[in-house]
Amino acid sequence: MNPNEEPETDFDKEPLPKGVVLKEHSYDGIREYDQRLPQWWMITLLGAILFSIIYWTVYDPDATYVGGEKAQLEARLAEIKAIKLASSIDVTNDGLFWEMSDSQQFITAGKATYEANCAACHGKDLEGGIGFNLVDAEWIHGSNPSEIYLTIYDGVPDKGMQAWGTLLGQKRIAEVVAYLLEENPGLRM
Ligand code: HEC
Repeated sequence: MNPNEEPETDFDKEPLPKGVVLKEHSYDGIREYDQRLPQWWMITLLGAILFSIIYWTVYDPDATYVGGEKAQLEARLAEIKAIKLASSIDVTNDGLFWEMSDSQQFITAGKATYEANCAACHGKDLEGGIGFNLVDAEWIHGSNPSEIYLTIYDGVPDKGMQAWGTLLGQKRIAEVVAYLLEENPGLRM
């Protein structure tokens, strides 16, 4: 056909597909079908919205709704932190002992070790007996965590407090120190 010839634009002349209604308006001769969205399209949209709501409430790790994983994650992180601390005990680092005293794992382990080995002399509630009171303000052999650690490790053999270093080892004594610190919040500077 001749390229200068106007193409046919009058769609009104074309027969409409079956069941289709045209809207009233017309923009530059362009008309619009008045049709509902296809059902599969609506179902997909509504389904996606529904899915997002369910996903949000059920799987969001920060959510406290059903299946929220935040609490489990935090417990796991605390465990990992405890393992890290236990495998790298620098017994001259007071800050590290204080960190351990914030960890329930160290406190629980330390308390058990204390009750099994120390309570006979220092009392079940650290109130003292044959050995010194361990919750008063008096620390004859030093109140820094590293000093307490050394006192337990080396003992005071000529005064009836044996050296526990070889018996309990570094980790278990550190745990006991963590427990003692937790019971002596006043020592924290
Ligand atoms: C047989 C008794 C006995 C047992 C068991 C014992 N202690 Fe002692 N402990 C003593 C005595 C006695 C002293 C005081 C030493 C002195 O006169 O200097 C002491 C002192 C201490 C001190 C120093 C307190 C201060 O004021 O500086 C600490 C800390 C301590 N014991 C911790 C422990 C821990 C922890 C255990 C368990 C692992 C333990 N002791 C087990 C008898 C005991």
